[in-house]
Amino acid sequence: MCGICGVVGHRPATPIVFEALRRLEYRGYDSAGIATLSADGTIDRRRAAGKLDNLEAILKAEPLSGTTGIGHTRWATHGAPTETNAHPHAAGRVAIVHNGIIENFATLKTELEAQGRIFLSDTDSETVAHLVDFYLDQGKAPRDAAFAAIQRLEGAYAIAIIFQGHDGLLIGARHGAPLAVGYGEGEMFLGSDSLALAPLASRITYLDDGDWCELTPGNAIIFNGEGQEVSRPIQNIAFMAGQVGKDGYRHYMEKELHEHPVAIGQTLQRITDPASKTITLPKMPFDPAQVPRVTITACGSAFYAGMVGRYWLESLARVPVEIDVASEMRYRDAPQPDKGVALLISQSGETADTLGVLRSLKKAGQSIVSVLNVEHSTMGRESDLVLGMVAGPEISVASTKAFTAQLSVLAALSIDFARARGTIDKTREESLTANLLDLPSRAAEVFTRVEAIQAMARVIAEARDVLYLGRGICTPIAYEGALKLKEISYIHAEAYAAGELKHGPISLIDRTVPVVAIAPSTILFDKTLSNLQEAKARGGRILAFTDAAGAKRLEGIAEHIVVLPDVDAFVAPILYAIPVQILAYEVALLKGTDVDQPRNLAKSVTVE
Ligand code: F6R
Repeated sequence: MCGICGVVGHRPATPIVFEALRRLEYRGYDSAGIATLSADGTIDRRRAAGKLDNLEAILKAEPLSGTTGIGHTRWATHGAPTETNAHPHAAGRVAIVHNGIIENFATLKTELEAQGRIFLSDTDSETVAHLVDFYLDQGKAPRDAAFAAIQRLEGAYAIAIIFQGHDGLLIGARHGAPLAVGYGEGEMFLGSDSLALAPLASRITYLDDGDWCELTPGNAIIFNGEGQEVSRPIQNIAFMAGQVGKDGYRHYMEKELHEHPVAIGQTLQRITDPASKTITLPKMPFDPAQVPRVTITACGSAFYAGMVGRYWLESLARVPVEIDVASEMRYRDAPQPDKGVALLISQSGETADTLGVLRSLKKAGQSIVSVLNVEHSTMGRESDLVLGMVAGPEISVASTKAFTAQLSVLAALSIDFARARGTIDKTREESLTANLLDLPSRAAEVFTRVEAIQAMARVIAEARDVLYLGRGICTPIAYEGALKLKEISYIHAEAYAAGELKHGPISLIDRTVPVVAIAPSTILFDKTLSNLQEAKARGGRILAFTDAAGAKRLEGIAEHIVVLPDVDAFVAPILYAIPVQILAYEVALLKGTDVDQPRNLAKSVTVE
């Protein structure tokens, strides 16, 4: 989604805001802009359609001065990604940046237009600028005008506002979209997330929903939705400052792929005891033995992690599981059982669809457990229990290491539930945990197979359509592979449970549609093999991810085989996710696409 930031201080604002936008660009890159207060107190702004480089060129030609400024990088919702629709939006004595959607903008706009105000953009956001300026016209001071305007807004927003003639004043507000205050030395910052603020401030405060704040160079005052001054916890983020570079990799995605072993290892370190080979998750705020059903909800890759989690929870812990994508679950009005548990999975913890489900299932009396990478996110704050992954910041828009970290948590959770429900014994728990603990080393080995993956990538890069097949617990990994390929290489890909092939998609198969099989020899291998033979018999080109035993059986059937380390079936989906993602990355390199910022996408989707 869009990223916003702001600064009030003593140093030139533009370079600070611009660098913060660079760190926020993963949230949207349809257009960008900055506004500052110049020495004479007037608002000056520069905006550009497209990526930040375009704005940088404009700023070079026409620099902005001033020590108070706001910036925005946009993922378009209302209005095309043009310069006119780019933020900051200005009206009278006000400039604003906004992330979210103002749902009642049409009503507000009609009202404001009736008073003679002229709108220049097609955005919902411009309404906010006019509304604040309208209240200034009514004689209100900036803080009161901002508060009056905020009270009229419906929908989701994180907003930053600067005021003509009020150097050193920045107002921020949040409702349904994240916003954090960063504390500097004689300067204060606003940012959509801790990544934006990490190199600027070691201490930050996430505003609660409904909060708004007044920042001056030496002070930050936070108010709640009733206008009362409140205090919110301060978090230390000093550790993040060094985690936001590419470390010599070509792309964030490449760096983050290489961080799989560390992400899995760090995550497991927190929730296992290697000496006793047991799971050490925090105590659940309910008795897992009494849970009648777990409802898993997430979006995109996180949803596929949830699909794997369903197999584990059902087969190990014998607990019934319901699962759906968040955008559907939210409106299904499905009956929820007494003592049921809702399990939400999200890298960002800000995804609007998933957050919506969290809130509705909480209302329906479910205990809320969330698996999150950003633990202090909105979902984190609203959950009964947060199971944190320790994947570190994920900046590439396509999710990578967060996926295997999510799977690691879900595997541990399934063992924990199974122990509590008496469906596994101590020996089995130890053996499953040992398999998990062995994973970081096996994951690191995958990177010795990159040449074989590149050979596969050359076949796929020529294709227009690709089929991904898996069976059982590896079916979601086929979905993950197809999603990743679509996202970053723009090649159409579909994933199926291999057994479904004969029920329809087999009609697509010919020489031009490669079939990628996720086929560890441990998981329904013979059945997958039959399905691949059916595809081969119809002229299909088979590309397989398997292990040494599987590779022998696939000789003469698969054109390219990537032989992965031998692992237990339990952890196979975690390991196989890695080469499948590397494959998408290698294809994207061959296609020359914008790997970290694929077209039309954004990370952290904070609108429905
Ligand atoms: C795929 C991808 C998306 C996210 C989805 C959920 O590569 O990144 O499908 O997985 O938007 O995002 P989070 O996990 O932040 O809720």
